[in-house]
Amino acid sequence: MVLILTLVFSLVIIACATELYRKSGIPIVGIQGADYMGWESCDLCHEQKVKDFVYMVHGRLWIAGNQDQPGIPVCEACHGPASLHVEAGGGRGVYILNPGKKPEVCFQCHTSIQARLRLQYHHPVKEAVIFCTDCHNLHGENIYSVKEMPISRGNTVCMQCHREQTRPRVFEHEALRDGCTICHHAHGSINDKMLIERDNNLCLKCHAQLGTPGTVTIGDFPHTTRLMEGTCWSVGCHTAVHGSNINSHLRY
Ligand code: HEC
Ligand code: HEC
Ligand code: HEC
Ligand code: HEC
Ligand code: HEC
Ligand code: HEC
Ligand code: HEC
Repeated sequence: MVLILTLVFSLVIIACATELYRKSGIPIVGIQGADYMGWESCDLCHEQKVKDFVYMVHGRLWIAGNQDQPGIPVCEACHGPASLHVEAGGGRGVYILNPGKKPEVCFQCHTSIQARLRLQYHHPVKEAVIFCTDCHNLHGENIYSVKEMPISRGNTVCMQCHREQTRPRVFEHEALRDGCTICHHAHGSINDKMLIERDNNLCLKCHAQLGTPGTVTIGDFPHTTRLMEGTCWSVGCHTAVHGSNINSHLRY
């Protein structure tokens, strides 16, 4: 009797969970023939994952509940409906999505990121060369880091693949302390090298100093005519934007 009651009760929860997902309007990647279970069923075997998740960004993503029905964190928005996985007793690759190499799972909600990754200059995610999970740790304490390194969040992530720009220099460019994303879009941009600005505004947002009316002085040097010659990082000027070992003015 207790068993039957439990069974009926679970089925009610499953039905409600599925209904809530449908009502939420979140389009969800599917697993053929499977239904949504709600997080309670994951808790049974992935207790730690569920517990930790509450403190993570996506743990805030609850489908709102009410007095009779607890809210549901959306494990299955990323892992797909899991009834068959649960019935089979779980297992790697057993009726469950591992979205690590499937950005389309993330694009269900992050459409603006998808759009950025389609711009002319972009990180090759749609080409399947790198993945969201190279830079984002979905179950980690810090979603911006795969390995925890004591550097600002942007650089930590970028360092894994771009050693040349991140290695220490005799004359460092302090701008890098604010993170690579002060100058580069992390996902994609209409500008070459994924720069945030294609012209001198990139540098002037930190360096602009007005001299007498009509003149521009930067770092004690008059720059009025120089600014018309090209970008600050053009050949002959400050080409070592990421820092230099030989020139304190970051010329080369
Ligand atoms: C009956 C126990 C059980 C339940 C219930 C269960 N799982 Fe699993 N799951 C497992 C086992 C066992 C593995 C394999 C773990 C391993 O090898 O480390 C697994 C693996 C996974 C993986 C990794 C898949 C892969 O291919 O790498 C994901 C994701 C997952 N489960 C999600 C869920 C979600 C979401 C729920 C709740 C809707 C859930 N599981 C409910 C037992 C379960
Ligand atoms: C926002 C998307 C997202 C949500 C929501 C999410 N996960 Fe995951 N999960 C991932 C990604 C991405 C991976 C693969 C990580 C990787 O390959 O580096 C993963 C991996 C896993 C794994 C396999 C871990 C391993 O050791 O390989 C399990 C188990 C799992 N998730 C369970 C859950 C449970 C339980 C919940 C809900 C509490 C949940 N996930 C919610 C994105 C998500
Ligand atoms: C069901 C919808 C949904 C799915 C699927 C989803 N996300 Fe999110 N994600 C959100 C929401 C909502 C936020 C919070 C946005 C906010 O706070 O402004 C968020 C936030 C984030 C953030 C920013 C965290 C921060 O605090 O700055 C990152 C990074 C992220 N998601 C990556 C991913 C990745 C990678 C995937 C795929 C593995 C994924 N998301 C799947 C809805 C989703
Ligand atoms: C090359 C590393 C990298 C890859 C690959 C990457 N991201 Fe990001 N992402 C970042 C960094 C760094 C930030 C923080 C940006 C900032 O601080 O300006 C970020 C920010 C975000 C944010 C929150 C801020 C925003 O712009 O809304 C979301 C959401 C996000 N990423 C989702 C994704 C998804 C989804 C994927 C895969 C399709 C992905 N990212 C791939 C590095 C990456
Ligand atoms: C997992 C590896 C990986 C990570 C992490 C990574 N990148 Fe990249 N990055 C690449 C690849 C691959 C390319 C494309 C290279 C190519 O096309 O030659 C690229 C290209 C670039 C380019 C354009 C280079 C050019 O010559 O046009 C810039 C700028 C860049 N990344 C900045 C960043 C920043 C900033 C971060 C941190 C937010 C970051 N990358 C993190 C792999 C990575
Ligand atoms: C002050 C602005 C600024 C910051 C901060 C910055 N970059 Fe750049 N980066 C540039 C500019 C400007 C270029 C284009 C140089 C050119 O075209 O000659 C560039 C070019 C690149 C390239 C293409 C190859 C090259 O060296 O020309 C990569 C890769 C790159 N940056 C990665 C990074 C990474 C990783 C970080 C963080 C450690 C970072 N950048 C921080 C301004 C910046
Ligand atoms: C986030 C702010 C920021 C941005 C953006 C930025 N810088 Fe800097 N830069 C600094 C700081 C801080 C210093 C160190 C203090 C100083 O000398 O003004 C510095 C120093 C320099 C120096 C050395 C000054 C000297 O002593 O001769 C040069 C050259 C320079 N930056 C060029 C650039 C160029 C070129 C760009 C655009 C590609 C740029 N900066 C973008 C913050 C920034």
